[in-house]
Amino acid sequence: MAASTGELVCVTGGSGYIGSWLVRLLLDRGYTVNATVKDLSYASHHPTPCTKQVYANVDDEKETKHLEALEGAESRLRLFQIDLLDYDSIVAAVTGASGVFHLASPCIVDQVHDPEKELLAPALKGTNNVLTAAKNLGIKRVVVTSSVSSIVPSPNWPADVPKNEDCWTDVEYCKQKELWYPLSKTLAEKAAWDFAKEKGLDVVVVNPGTVMGCTEIYEDFFMGSVHVKDVALAHILVYENTSATGRHLCVEAISHYGDLAAKVAELYPEYNIPRLAKDTQPGLLRSKAASKKLMELGLEFIPVDQIIRDSVESLKSKGFIS
Ligand SMILES: NC(=O)c1ccc[n+]([C@@H]2O[C@H](COP(=O)([O-])OP(=O)(O)OC[C@H]3O[C@@H](n4cnc5c(N)ncnc54)[C@H](OP(=O)(O)O)[C@@H]3O)[C@@H](O)[C@H]2O)c1
Repeated sequence: MAASTGELVCVTGGSGYIGSWLVRLLLDRGYTVNATVKDLSYASHHPTPCTKQVYANVDDEKETKHLEALEGAESRLRLFQIDLLDYDSIVAAVTGASGVFHLASPCIVDQVHDPEKELLAPALKGTNNVLTAAKNLGIKRVVVTSSVSSIVPSPNWPADVPKNEDCWTDVEYCKQKELWYPLSKTLAEKAAWDFAKEKGLDVVVVNPGTVMGCTEIYEDFFMGSVHVKDVALAHILVYENTSATGRHLCVEAISHYGDLAAKVAELYPEYNIPRLAKDTQPGLLRSKAASKKLMELGLEFIPVDQIIRDSVESLKSKGFIS
């Protein structure tokens, strides 16, 4: 893997769960990073158990404190306040960079009251604003963080074919079922591909599964778990390898929620983990090599046992479970 020598890149959503890890890995590799946050003064975003545990063990009020404590941050990290709906604020963060990692997007999966305002506008308009800034400023490559939520739900996909990067979430199904987060991710990713084609911008996409390791809350529907460190690394691999093109499913394995529950019960017998049916998602095909595109780029996924251990230990250390 190529090590960088001070190359400047921009990370939108740099204070987020995945963004924080990505900033850390980029600094470790010698990059200079312009990281964006929504509010430079306070923790407008909920600090995740992960960001707080992994970085500096600081009990901060300011959401950027864990970033500022990173090795190399003093000389190679600059923070920018952006609003995804405000093009000019994005331009400032992208200026001078050679690459952009676009992660910032609202991650709200329930209790959405105004889908357009809370999810769809920032996801879509934000993506268009970031890509427009990248194009206007001559950025060489943009890595867009999409999601497995742009791949499923896809009820019309052939039942006997494992879902892969060719599969797209059914937009009409999402609207009918009011699945606003998958809708926001799907429309944003489609907009990114349209933009890339029309304007000739080099775009590559990572589609992470349910990101864990140091965990947040996740939905019942389970397609594939992935360690947050691997998601961050996947972004760098697709950025640095010019041969990487298209979408990149980023999951350790695709398994049923019942499989995961059984594994947690095995690793942590002291907890009362309910036994679930073997096939909790009728029709979901198990797969061990769903992310072969990333594996071919050299990503060796952290196995699910370790993902679970890191998630549970993180939750314990933060007092969410005892
Ligand atoms: N976590 C997962 O399981 C998962 C799985 C697949 C894909 N993803 C995708 O990965 C990306 C990062 O997610 P995450 O898990 O790291 O979530 P996160 O911790 O909530 O980070 C989201 C980031 O986006 C920023 N943001 C949101 N709305 C914004 C706005 N209007 N203007 C400026 N910044 C805004 C947030 O800023 P503040 O912190 O200042 O609010 C935050 O830094 C997202 O695109 C998400 O859809 C996540």
